[in-house]
Amino acid sequence: MDLLVVGSGFFGLTIAERAAASGRKVTVIDRRPHIGGNAYSEDEPTTGIEVHRYGAHLFHTSNPGVWEYVNRFTTFTDYVHRVYTNHKGVVFPLPINLGTINQFFQAAYSPDEARALVHELAGEFDAKDAANLEEKGIALIGRPLYEAFIRDYTAKQWQTDPKDLPAEIISRLPVRYTYDNRYFNDTWEGLPTDGYTAWLERMADHPNIEVRLGTDFFDDSQPFHKTATVGQLPVVYTGPVDRYFDYAEGALSWRTLDFEQEVLDVGDFQGTSVMNYADADVPYTRIHEFKHFHPERADRHPSDKTVIMREFSRFATREDEPYYPVNTPDDRAGLVAYRELAKGEQGVLFGGRLGTYQYLDMHMAIGSALSMWNNQLA
Ligand code: FDA
Repeated sequence: MDLLVVGSGFFGLTIAERAAASGRKVTVIDRRPHIGGNAYSEDEPTTGIEVHRYGAHLFHTSNPGVWEYVNRFTTFTDYVHRVYTNHKGVVFPLPINLGTINQFFQAAYSPDEARALVHELAGEFDAKDAANLEEKGIALIGRPLYEAFIRDYTAKQWQTDPKDLPAEIISRLPVRYTYDNRYFNDTWEGLPTDGYTAWLERMADHPNIEVRLGTDFFDDSQPFHKTATVGQLPVVYTGPVDRYFDYAEGALSWRTLDFEQEVLDVGDFQGTSVMNYADADVPYTRIHEFKHFHPERADRHPSDKTVIMREFSRFATREDEPYYPVNTPDDRAGLVAYRELAKGEQGVLFGGRLGTYQYLDMHMAIGSALSMWNNQLA
């Protein structure tokens, strides 16, 4: 074996695929019982509807190199992501756009009129002087829109009143002065035609790649554990960086999500794939309805059943799946210390969202793995 990859998410699989294609023998281990990290999906057994087990995953990129690369393993549907939000029992389009504004103010403002209104409302605070997230939000879009669409949703995401959250969490709140409610602005967007798991499996499908699931890098009773491999052969590690160093510089903080999945005896529950719930009296942040991600599969989906998933957000304990870095000043200091430790770790490269303590979209994880391969491993 020439290379050990810890973690079979998009970062690890991209490294493994590139290494295998260049003739190296690679072993990929993952502690989960399935391949693919957080992008893994599976068909709900009673309906055959593809469910994204770790939250909705929409592929989008403007990076031509990444787009060319991913198309070697899958084609993409022409799905275009749009999100709506329920506020006080009324549904509005997101991101905040001219449609949201006119519906909210029961008006027919032109783009210039809406821009002038938001500018006037935002005058209550200066963004530069904002002492907390609430003041920053008001300084960016004005109090009425902030209180309706941002305040309670943010409080649910962070389990914290936005008055107690740092202003830096948001740098901007995009407002579009057109009726365009396309969620992503990227050049390419779509969902893998045969699903995420087929795509991920094709990346690993090479005679030079061996995948071992249910194998934890820190379990000395299993093959390919840390003590047996580091220093013996090159390792690319995509697990949590603080865990690698036994939390020597403290645990980095994460938010996690809880998902409640349900099969309903109704053909269509909400008419769209993602509905946010903006208000405090609804405990979840959003509901996903998976059949809407693949309208082209309508003939395969049951007409009288659907699968929905409610999403709840909270701070993660060490036992939870880490999803989004919290990034407090303590976390940033810890990360600097872990980066120093990582530099001194001979023969080990740290990558991916857990290994670098960074939120990465899929195209960013793949792009950064391609760079690591080209610049440090090839
Ligand atoms: P990933 O977490 O996928 O893989 C790491 C792997 O390492 C895991 O499989 C884990 O089990 C394994 N591992 C950890 N410790 C180990 C150990 N000790 N031993 C062995 N294995 C170990 N992106 C996007 O482009 N569009 C989207 O819509 C979304 N949506 C989204 C929703 C949610 C809720 C989240 C949390 C994330 C997204 N993403 C996303 C981001 C996407 O999930 C992310 O880009 C990829 O998961 C990154 O791949 P990695 O390989 O870096 O990590």
